[in-house]
Amino acid sequence: MSLITELQTLLGTAHVLFEGDLSAYEEDWRKRSRGRALCVVTPANTQEVAEVVKLCAAHQTSIVPQGGNTGLVVGSIPDESGQQVLLSLKRMRAIQAIDTENLSITVQAGCVLQEVQEAASQAGLLFPLSLGSQGSCTIGGNLSTNAGGTQVLRYGNTRDLCLGLEVVSASGEIYAGLSGLRKDNTGYDLKNLFIGAEGTLGIITAATLKLYPKPQSTWTALVAVHALDNCVSLLSHCHQALGAQLTGFEVMNQFSLSLVSKHLPQLACPFPNSPWCVLLELSDSESQAHASEQLENLLSSAMELGLASNAIIADSLQKAKHLWHIRESITMAQAMEGLNIKNDISLPVSRITEFVRITDQALQDLVPGVQLVNFGHLGDGNLHYNVQSPPNTPAHVFLDSFEDQINTLVYQKVKLYGGSISAEHGIGSLKVQTLPDYKDPVALKLMRQIKVSLDPLNTMNPNRVILLH
Ligand code: FAD
Ligand code: MLT
Ligand code: ZN
Repeated sequence: MSLITELQTLLGTAHVLFEGDLSAYEEDWRKRSRGRALCVVTPANTQEVAEVVKLCAAHQTSIVPQGGNTGLVVGSIPDESGQQVLLSLKRMRAIQAIDTENLSITVQAGCVLQEVQEAASQAGLLFPLSLGSQGSCTIGGNLSTNAGGTQVLRYGNTRDLCLGLEVVSASGEIYAGLSGLRKDNTGYDLKNLFIGAEGTLGIITAATLKLYPKPQSTWTALVAVHALDNCVSLLSHCHQALGAQLTGFEVMNQFSLSLVSKHLPQLACPFPNSPWCVLLELSDSESQAHASEQLENLLSSAMELGLASNAIIADSLQKAKHLWHIRESITMAQAMEGLNIKNDISLPVSRITEFVRITDQALQDLVPGVQLVNFGHLGDGNLHYNVQSPPNTPAHVFLDSFEDQINTLVYQKVKLYGGSISAEHGIGSLKVQTLPDYKDPVALKLMRQIKVSLDPLNTMNPNRVILLH
């Protein structure tokens, strides 16, 4: 029997797609890459995922797991062979349990992030992971990419928010690790192998995640800043003044904000002449009035010190949401502008200003007039240092001529300044060829050993993250 027929017998024909328009599964979010699947399967539960994995292993057919398909490194779509099974977790989106005393929530991996946030909120608690894609990305995808987002400063990356996992291994066994324990020193920490593995070691089917008390008050401010070094000094100032209350610190250069104003005019930046803007958020277990006073004091001292030239404090939840919406729309505005080179990099915060000065100049020397869409999570040392063609140069001409050179230039500088070529988006297939040039060779060897040992047939999302040969 063919694999498709066996999968149909297992899941029912409605849950094995192989005809018609499958572009939603086969094309990446940025529409830069397109693959072709043998079929798309949508299992309903963990047992079915395990059976699919066993069938595929018996047919030596590889599997690409997919959540919301919002990943930015081309890891969640099939390759062009037409031979891979795309396993979507979209039918596995139940909130399984909320334990308010243990401050934890257990969900299926296909649960959309926003649904988890809402379930936590309804229980009077907070699930702090926040991404611009939260309306469609899934917990399985968040864990598999170890997503970051805008609250990392206070609550950490997705890895830091995970207590336990259920995973279907490459052989189709179910690893039942859904513990809600905060302490468990009984050997290797397996969950941390699967987190950030981008589906290359197994399929995450459910997770137990940390919840937090909801802050009593949250304040958001947009601050106009003359230069990036002032943004870095403002960050230090905020750390000193706010300590753990500082929950978000995002930077945006004016060019990235101008793309938002151009394509989404309702989200025009209130400071169109400021070279940089910082969006900062403070949250507190004290009253709203107390936090407001703190933020006002902070901003007036920042202005006295010359770190900020202007600021708006959002005085309602609606206005705060509007400011966040501006920030979170940069990715969409960039996509609307056309193709560009995305660099998701991290650096020690103390070296960011110099990195940007030197790299901006080197890029201008290479391609005069090149435009930099520079924004990101400065509080985490994470910049989205994206490079766009000079005005009047078609994006595809620019990419064809310069993409490789620009990537090499940027990554070499990242290495020089002690940074990482992937801060939060992962490796996928976009950076899999590049990784060996920037990762410690022993780390690469150990990663290969782990991959071969957990996935000896190389059927779990092969050729993503790490190449075996
Ligand atoms: P997918 O894109 O479907 O998959 C991502 C990877 O995980 C693939 O390799 C896939 O094979 C694997 N995978 C998915 N589900 C599973 C599973 N259950 N088991 C095993 N492997 C699995 N990322 C950030 O880190 N921070 C941001 O601030 C951020 N903002 C974004 C804003 C926008 C507008 C967009 C489009 C993307 C953004 N991203 C961000 C990137 C993306 O949303 C994240 O990487 C997210 O975690 C991906 O989740 P997903 O469910 O869409 O995963
Ligand atoms: C963001 O911070 O908005 C995301 O990581 C998406 C992006 O880099 O475009
Ligand atoms: Zn980001």
